[in-house]
Amino acid sequence: MSKRVASSTDDVASSKKAKIQDDDDDDSAYLEEHKIVVEGGDARPIRDFGAFNEKARHQLEAAFAAPTPTQAISWALALRGSDVISIAKTGSGKTLGFLLPAFHKMEQKTVRGACSPQVLVLAPTRELATQIGVEAAKFAPAFAVRTATVFGGAPKWEQNHQLKILGGRGCVVGTPGRVNDFLDSNKIQFSLLETLVLDEADRMLDMGFEPQIRSIVAKISRPTQTLLYSATWDNKVQKVAATLLRNPVKFVLGDAGTKLVANKDIAQTVEVLDESKKTARAVEFVAAREAAKLIVFVATKRGCDALCRDLRRTTKCDALHGDKDQHERNRVIDKFRKSKKGVLVATDVAARGLDINDVTHVLCYDFPKGTHGVEDYIHRIGRTGRAGNKGRSHVFVTPQDSNLPALVRILQDADQPVPDDLKQLAFTRRSGGRGRGYSRGRGGSSSYGFRGRGSSSYYGSRPTGRFSSSSSSSSSGTKIRF
Ligand SMILES: Nc1ncnc2c1ncn2[C@@H]1O[C@H](COP(=O)(O)OP(=O)(O)OP(=O)(O)O)[C@@H](O)[C@H]1O
Ligand SMILES: [Mg+2]
Repeated sequence: MSKRVASSTDDVASSKKAKIQDDDDDDSAYLEEHKIVVEGGDARPIRDFGAFNEKARHQLEAAFAAPTPTQAISWALALRGSDVISIAKTGSGKTLGFLLPAFHKMEQKTVRGACSPQVLVLAPTRELATQIGVEAAKFAPAFAVRTATVFGGAPKWEQNHQLKILGGRGCVVGTPGRVNDFLDSNKIQFSLLETLVLDEADRMLDMGFEPQIRSIVAKISRPTQTLLYSATWDNKVQKVAATLLRNPVKFVLGDAGTKLVANKDIAQTVEVLDESKKTARAVEFVAAREAAKLIVFVATKRGCDALCRDLRRTTKCDALHGDKDQHERNRVIDKFRKSKKGVLVATDVAARGLDINDVTHVLCYDFPKGTHGVEDYIHRIGRTGRAGNKGRSHVFVTPQDSNLPALVRILQDADQPVPDDLKQLAFTRRSGGRGRGYSRGRGGSSSYGFRGRGSSSYYGSRPTGRFSSSSSSSSSGTKIRF
């Protein structure tokens, strides 16, 4: 009998061991298949929706076949309580990657009658905050969570009302400026905050939100889990990560951690032409794509309005930029979201994080300039080819444009054709210098070295060299306002 038990115990043990081995192998195969590298810890990908409550599971199953690879790892790490850095391609489902584990955590810990949110998501633009707020509100009921979305340019009283009724399970999504306003006027406190999410953190810094983020973080009176999401991993993001996160586990999809990479689901084309020909060519390009749902990116607000006027001679289109009032910005985005086809002419206010269904094409009318030009290009074209769909992008390049060798590398890395005239332009003259025209002076000389919560005494020593940052490579100190 004892032998039998022993033997059966052995069997169980060895079968458990074998299962663990199989699971390990499966996990490794999954990581390999999706080119995921995890640093600073390990992660067992969550490959179904079973990690969440039944209601949420049903909602997810009705919407999606399976978690995206970003979510599989993000959920695994965030549910375990780690600080997380996620560097993943555009359109890979990062939003639910951070929202759902944060909601799940709240479900485990309700604080009755509290008026301090447990989750704060910071995003750089009003449009992105609104979009994340909508996504949050979609899944919040499954976790009995309440949400509030706060951003500038809209009346405070309505947002204040949302904050007031958050209750014990509250999630606030907002832009740093408005969140800070509410903090300063005591309409919100973070005494019970559990999770802080920085979405598109690098862009928030570029936009000059450093002081507001610093001020918000300083008012969080307890250690929180911090999740940082971005599609790119440059010096700025590294610096933020090093100062704000505690022993983070970083995961990178594909090559995004070592170099700038574009989503391979996007077929990219490049057209070299003279600056003076761009408008006529854009009119022709748009007219030839009547059935397309197309975003045209222009460098400046004035340029955006001007091109929109020119395109309107043959095509219906709307302009979106930071000088439009919020009502108009909402109207334009809503209309474009709901339309099956159409043309939106926008500045970079639409470049980050915006998830608009079925955008078939992106036209970069101006190739982005400045130190981060290529990174901006990747985000702009990332408005198409989302969630595994295919997309197309087209970019105008002129002899005055800078950063062209980097563009060539982006194309090559994404297995896209590199036209000969681009190669010639990129490699037969000094490139990387300033082109004429739309240079807008990106934020950067600003002192990213704020220590905030990240001072080693509070957060322990900085993680290994993997997360250490070199000095910021940013250029000028001007704030970006699209
Ligand atoms: N598991 C899933 N399966 C399929 N589609 C999904 C899944 N999860 C989210 N999506 C959809 O994928 C799209 C892109 O998601 P999301 O905006 O979160 O991407 P992102 O990684 O944040 O992109 P960006 O880098 O541009 O900010 C959304 O339409 C979302 O509804
Ligand atoms: Mg996003």
